[in-house]
Amino acid sequence: MSLRIAVVPGDGIGVEVIREATKTLGVVAETAGRKITLTHFEWGAEHYLRTGETLPGGALQMLQDGFDAILLGAMGDPRVPDNRHAAEILLGRRFKLDLYVNYRPVQLFHERLCPLKGKGPADVDFVVFRENTEGLYVMMGGHFKRDSPDEVATEIDLNTRKGVERIVRHAFEFATATGRTKVVMADKSNVLIHAHELWQRVFKTVAAQYPAIESRHLYVDNLCLQLLREPQQFQVVVTSNMFGDIVTDLAAGLQGGLGMAASANIHPGRLSLFEPVHGSSPGLAGRNVANPMGAVLSAALLLDHVGWKQESKRIEQAVRRAVESGRTTADVGGRLGTREVGESIAACLRGES
Ligand code: IPM
Ligand code: MN
Repeated sequence: MSLRIAVVPGDGIGVEVIREATKTLGVVAETAGRKITLTHFEWGAEHYLRTGETLPGGALQMLQDGFDAILLGAMGDPRVPDNRHAAEILLGRRFKLDLYVNYRPVQLFHERLCPLKGKGPADVDFVVFRENTEGLYVMMGGHFKRDSPDEVATEIDLNTRKGVERIVRHAFEFATATGRTKVVMADKSNVLIHAHELWQRVFKTVAAQYPAIESRHLYVDNLCLQLLREPQQFQVVVTSNMFGDIVTDLAAGLQGGLGMAASANIHPGRLSLFEPVHGSSPGLAGRNVANPMGAVLSAALLLDHVGWKQESKRIEQAVRRAVESGRTTADVGGRLGTREVGESIAACLRGES
């Protein structure tokens, strides 16, 4: 039975990094004697500008019926200033497929890549679980007296007990399943006295059900400080949608920048979506300079999710080896292009280096 992956390269550097990620998937399948079928979809700014369509009707059903996972590059193009297509394609998939877990592992592969003095791979090794279906991302709110001096704009921070509880529980379950012993929940309950008071209550209730795990609360501003001072304190962090977005850019910095950061948008047991944390970087597009490692590592998360654990590990090892031997793009200190990094990872998987 073939593993069926829907591939959406998207905009800008998404196209180039996904080319390397799919190359990696091909090689890992080939060398394992397994089969992957990749189906490409040209959804993105170009398609939107040409046709006025973000996604074709029935796309959701088609994805659910025909695929085991989705691999996405990046969305965003200066020619679509409001990023309508990105909201529809990326955020739309997160909401409509109910991908409530945004899983962002933060792993430093070599001390050279870390901007912090004296920190090595043992110091930066944690995961962030970002709530992915509600919070400030629901786009509820509005304008009143628009375009007048008395204009008012609101944005609703929507938090449900069900939504908070399932992501918090997922963090504890993950810690338990992977032998981790500490979970930190970050919020801003000292100011957001309604929404984040709910996070507080839910966190305490769920934490009490996992007595073997040490649970700790931090305000999100303090979390940012602590991540810079002593990243080694952290194993598992769980937080809301917007804070998770912000904190994972900071965390990406600890592992070498956005080019290294992978992410998974998961509904356990269901069709899920995998993408690098970085955006489409229009300025770097088409120049063979973008770091493909975040996309390649996202493909590894995809394989892990669908049960190809060994193949997933092999990709991670190959990336680690490429970093250790300096076969990287310039953003992490190397001299190779996007394609050459992809080729070097593929060669490693083939046992050639
Ligand atoms: C991310 C991105 C997205 C987000 C954007 C592109 C909407 O920054 O995946 O972190 O804010 O979730
Ligand atoms: Mn982000």
